Amino acid sequence: MSIHIEAKAGEIAPDLLLPGDPLRAKFIAETYFDNPKLVNQIRGMYCYTGTYKGKPVSAMGSGMGQPSLSIYVNELYRDYDVQRIIRVGSCGSIQPGVKIKDLVLAQSACTNSAVNKHRFRGMDYAPHGDFDLLVTARNLGKNMGQQVHVGSILSSDTFYEADPDLWKLWAKYGVLAIEMETAELYTLAAQYGRKALGLLTVSDSLVDPSEDVLQDREKGFRAMAQVALDTLNSLD
Ligand code: HPA
Repeated sequence: MSIHIEAKAGEIAPDLLLPGDPLRAKFIAETYFDNPKLVNQIRGMYCYTGTYKGKPVSAMGSGMGQPSLSIYVNELYRDYDVQRIIRVGSCGSIQPGVKIKDLVLAQSACTNSAVNKHRFRGMDYAPHGDFDLLVTARNLGKNMGQQVHVGSILSSDTFYEADPDLWKLWAKYGVLAIEMETAELYTLAAQYGRKALGLLTVSDSLVDPSEDVLQDREKGFRAMAQVALDTLNSLD
């Protein structure tokens, strides 16, 4: 067990899906895993372990924002020897061609957070996803008939930005979408020498706020979870 996770040694698999919402972790486990077992419920941050197509896998919530994710991912990589994490989350599009329900694969993650300014003493690090996970997820997503975009995202510390037009600066530099966690996940993967990918479903659009938010969230989430699980399953 670690400070925030009560699972015993060996109860968390080397491959892990990481949604922000712990109830999504429960949904993934109950929908896709054989023999799911609840191994953490401290703070309601559920972690389940089971098998998918015969291989051990876990699903755990990260909470919202980089500070929350950072606590869990540090402990997962350091104390439970987790090797590969795929974040399965939602994002807001900031490009006209990136539509609600599309998948966004974060090749890299910009951030407005001070976390890496602090870590790298004022210098910049370029958080990036694992290439093999990225390519595999892209191909599987396309084969499933999904619209898949690969590129840079912004991991923001705020959902409600004081300046409602600030996203346009990032959009000008080609950033595809905004979410709140992936930059820290990628940086921790580098710190521990492990692998990570941010796989996101577009839930809303800042370009056209009148565009319906993703109505059938469960359907969008199912496609993303399927791509993530098959990506881990098809790579050793
Ligand atoms: N901003 C930040 N995080 C998000 C958004 C957004 O618009 N949509 C989904 N997660």
